[in-house]
Amino acid sequence: MKLQGQVAIVTGAGSGFGEGIATLFSEVGASVVVADIRSECAERVAARIRSSGGKATVSVTDVTKNDEVAAMVKLAVDTYGRLDIVVNNAGTTHKSQPMLDVDEATFDLVYAVNVKSLYLSAKNVVPLFKAQGGGVMINIASTAGVRPRPGLTWYNGSKGAAILLTKSMAVELAAFKIRVCAVNPVMGETGLIADFLPGGQDTPEARAKVISGIPLGRLSRPLDVAKAVAFLASDEADFITGVCLEVDGGRCI
Ligand SMILES: NC(=O)c1ccc[n+]([C@@H]2O[C@H](COP(=O)([O-])OP(=O)(O)OC[C@H]3O[C@@H](n4cnc5c(N)ncnc54)[C@H](O)[C@@H]3O)[C@@H](O)[C@H]2O)c1
Repeated sequence: MKLQGQVAIVTGAGSGFGEGIATLFSEVGASVVVADIRSECAERVAARIRSSGGKATVSVTDVTKNDEVAAMVKLAVDTYGRLDIVVNNAGTTHKSQPMLDVDEATFDLVYAVNVKSLYLSAKNVVPLFKAQGGGVMINIASTAGVRPRPGLTWYNGSKGAAILLTKSMAVELAAFKIRVCAVNPVMGETGLIADFLPGGQDTPEARAKVISGIPLGRLSRPLDVAKAVAFLASDEADFITGVCLEVDGGRCI
């Protein structure tokens, strides 16, 4: 199997894309730390993985808090003996709205969850990867960071930062056999969809408007994202680093 014997942390794994990534990772052989700020969601996902015969441990983690990220990494190593893959997936957004209507507290939260989390993840994971002789980090960015559209300006900027940080970390960490890649999903059917849609509401009309800009004619799904992440995290991609892969049905063409 693609990730047989590998140990992975997936943040924001209690729902949406993260749940899809954790589930597929387990199906292809990885032991998974299911990390989320919402304990009940993480418990549900981990219980489902275990009931299917997989290995999963819950870490209740706020990715914006250094001590909690450190505890998450320690839990992975204490439980499974090593750490091979970290998927920085936890994310948040402001509602789709005119840029000047987003208040300062919301801006700070978006950048803490979407950008500072990458710094804290690197601070806690990279020393371990260096000591182990390598590892893989996959960041879930977005087409929003490649082809920004009105209404999500500050979110778009946070994902642009995630893309640039992915490339910058990739080039700095390559000497240590640490690969860093990103996946850029187009809008997907997850807990965040209502905030992303034009007008900030999940209506058939709003979905149709977005879908009309996606050549393959549908929104993304957790399994679409999970398959791309599993490939990039696997040895099949062992000469690939710094790649930020659109999973977008052609949206960014
Ligand atoms: N849904 C989309 O349209 C879309 C498109 C492109 C990229 N993304 C990105 O995909 C990632 C996953 O989002 P999703 O769409 O699956 O949404 P989601 O809301 O279903 O999942 C996000 C998860 O992150 C968790 N989370 C939020 N803040 C956290 C924190 N501080 N610490 C730990 N966990 C936290 C939430 O509890 C939730 O379980 C995000 O980075 C998002 O920006 C989403």
